[in-house]
Amino acid sequence: MDKKFRIGALISGGGTNLQAIIDSCEAGKIKGKLAFVGSDNPDAKGLERARRHKIPTFVVDYTSIIKRFKKKPDKALLPDDYNFDDLLSRQTLLLKNTDSKKTETFIMTRAIAEKELLDKMKPYPFDLLILAGFMRNLTPYFIDRVNTDPDHPRIMNIHPALLPAFSGTDGYGDTFQYGCKVGGCTVHFIDYGEDTGPIIGQKAFQIENNDTLDTIKKKGLALEWELYPECINLFAKNRLKTVKVSYILQNGEERERRIVKILGS
Ligand code: GAR
Repeated sequence: MDKKFRIGALISGGGTNLQAIIDSCEAGKIKGKLAFVGSDNPDAKGLERARRHKIPTFVVDYTSIIKRFKKKPDKALLPDDYNFDDLLSRQTLLLKNTDSKKTETFIMTRAIAEKELLDKMKPYPFDLLILAGFMRNLTPYFIDRVNTDPDHPRIMNIHPALLPAFSGTDGYGDTFQYGCKVGGCTVHFIDYGEDTGPIIGQKAFQIENNDTLDTIKKKGLALEWELYPECINLFAKNRLKTVKVSYILQNGEERERRIVKILGS
C-alpha cells in the first residue's frame, strides 16, 4: 500500500480510545495515520492528546450552536441543501410520536452543526471516520454525505456495552445496574439509529460480586483499547463486507438489516 490509510476521528472527552489508536498507528500495528481529530466540546482533553502528536484538530461547539438557535431560530443558518422532510423520513433517532416542535428543532440544530463539521473536515481527506467517545448522535444529513456508497459504510463507533443491549449514553452504568454477570464493548458501523448499526466486533468481561461501576469501566476500557484498533485494521485491510439479511419477527413482520461479514485473512 503506497498511500497511508487515513483515519478521521471525532471525540467528546478524554480520548483514551483515540490514544490507543494513535499508539497502534505509531507502532505500525495499524498501517495508517490520523488525518484529523474533531470535537463537539472545546474542553475535550483528547484534543490535547492529538496536538501532542501533531494531528490537526478542530471544534464545532454543539452546545453553543444549539443554545443560540433555540434563543433565535434563524432559518438562514440552515445549510443550502437542507431538506427537512427528507431527513425526517430517514432518521430513526427520534420516535414518531415525539413532539413535532422538538423533532424539528433537533433536526435543524443538528444539520447546522453537522454542516459545520463537514466543512471543517473538508481539508483533510480520510478513508474511515471513527467516533471515539463522540457523544452526539449523527443524523442522515451528515451520514449520507460521508457514506456515499451504501454498500461501503465508513463511519465506525465504539459503544461501552454488548449491543444490542444497553444502547445510549451510559453503557457500563446500565450493564452494572441491571445486574449483568457479563459486560463488554462493541464496535459497529453507524446507521440512522442510536447504536443500531452493523456489528463489527465485540469483547466481553466477567462481572464479579465485588466489582463496582468503577472496576467495570476499567475492565471495559482496557478491552476497548484492544478492540477498536483490531476493527480499524480489518477495515484498512478490506476485510469487512456488509450484506443485507432479512428476518421474520415473532408477529410475522419481515425486516431487513445489514450485517458485517469478516472476510478471511
Ligand atoms: C468510552 O467508554 C466509549 O465506549 C464511550 O465513551 C467512552 C470514551 O472514552 N462511548 C460512548 O458511550 C458512545 N455512546 P475515551 O474518551 O477515553 O475514549
